[in-house]
Amino acid sequence: MNATETLIQEVIVTTRHPEGRVHLAPMGIRRHGETIVIAPFRPSVTLDHLVASGCAVVNYTDDVRVFAGCLTGRRNWPLTAAARVPAPRLAEVLAHSELELERIEDDPVRPRLICRSVFAATHRPFQGFNRAQAAVVELAILVSRLDRLPADKIAAEIGYLRIAVEKTAGPRELAAWNWLMERVRDPHSALSSASADR
Ligand SMILES: Cc1cc2nc3c(=O)[nH]c(=O)nc-3n(C[C@H](O)[C@H](O)[C@H](O)COP(=O)(O)O)c2cc1C
Repeated sequence: MNATETLIQEVIVTTRHPEGRVHLAPMGIRRHGETIVIAPFRPSVTLDHLVASGCAVVNYTDDVRVFAGCLTGRRNWPLTAAARVPAPRLAEVLAHSELELERIEDDPVRPRLICRSVFAATHRPFQGFNRAQAAVVELAILVSRLDRLPADKIAAEIGYLRIAVEKTAGPRELAAWNWLMERVRDPHSALSSASADR
């Protein structure tokens, strides 16, 4: 398998339903040049919005609070208009790409949305890797699967991820970690707002 087939980048996808509702969700995307593949598991608001509107924005951010926030009912991140598509982008991003939906490879579990980047911009320089940010993203993925993973696996992974947080986190990473840990301790906390759109 070719490496570009497997590289997945963890981003925030913003979508806007034609009737106006905006949605933010962490997603893993694959890029092949100007083609970007988004693969949401059904059911998915991102999928519904993308199919209805034909567009989305991929936000490249190192603010892991947005990833943790989307999973813990904190979706109220500042947005701004995109240049070419009706879906907004996050106001604070390293870079973003504006997408138009080209076609759907349908699937009952996880359709693949094949999109084309029609506009891209860089706003701030990449600051280097940070282990706590990676640990928060890993914990966010665990939290998004809490109902499907065995408790001992979750506890073991948190024990390992915590080391990077304790050694390398800044205030944003610590806040994001703590929001996710609240959810691990009480999986039903803030559930209603976690699924809320604006
Ligand atoms: C880093 C990260 C990557 C994710 N990637 C995906 C993905 O590729 N597809 C997916 O369906 N959910 C993914 N999730 C989980 C979704 O963000 C979450 O389930 C969300 O609610 C998706 O459903 P929605 O479109 O209805 O918001 C990811 C979560 C995280 C934290």
